[in-house]
Amino acid sequence: MAEDLSISKGTKVEQYLALIPQIEGLLTGEPDLIANLANITAALKEQFGWLWVGFYLVKNDELVLAPFQGPVACTRIKKGRGVCGAAWQQEQTLIVPDVEKFPGHIACSSLSRSEIVVPIFHQNEVVAILDVDSINLNEFDEIDKQYLEEIVGLINWN
Ligand code: SME
Repeated sequence: MAEDLSISKGTKVEQYLALIPQIEGLLTGEPDLIANLANITAALKEQFGWLWVGFYLVKNDELVLAPFQGPVACTRIKKGRGVCGAAWQQEQTLIVPDVEKFPGHIACSSLSRSEIVVPIFHQNEVVAILDVDSINLNEFDEIDKQYLEEIVGLINWN
């Protein structure tokens, strides 16, 4: 396959709709989890230009940093800590319009102003989270929640 991503310039929904089949194409036939997580972060970062896009994997009851694109980040997060640990504990996507107003937010980058964290389930357990940070306040909404949840649903955990 061609490795170049085709960048869409439409509405946010149009951007997701153009991106998702390309992500499916990147994942098809590749069983390696880390390779697939890496390409998903690259595709999202390239399409949307967000500050930070990355995964944390649940390992021994902690979140541990996994493939990401963006500035260096904290490597381990405990359950319930920060937005990532809260999304893991609550088992639901969290949209944070202003990170300074989220009690316990972990500031990996001082440039981050808003954030969305999507828990990823395998056999009814949270096995990872997808974290996206933006330099803009109020960047993320229900559209991002819907499509990012769809994208993480494409990952093969077997
Ligand atoms: N802000 C996150 C920590 C991870 S970094 O943003 C990459 C949090 O509060 O959980």
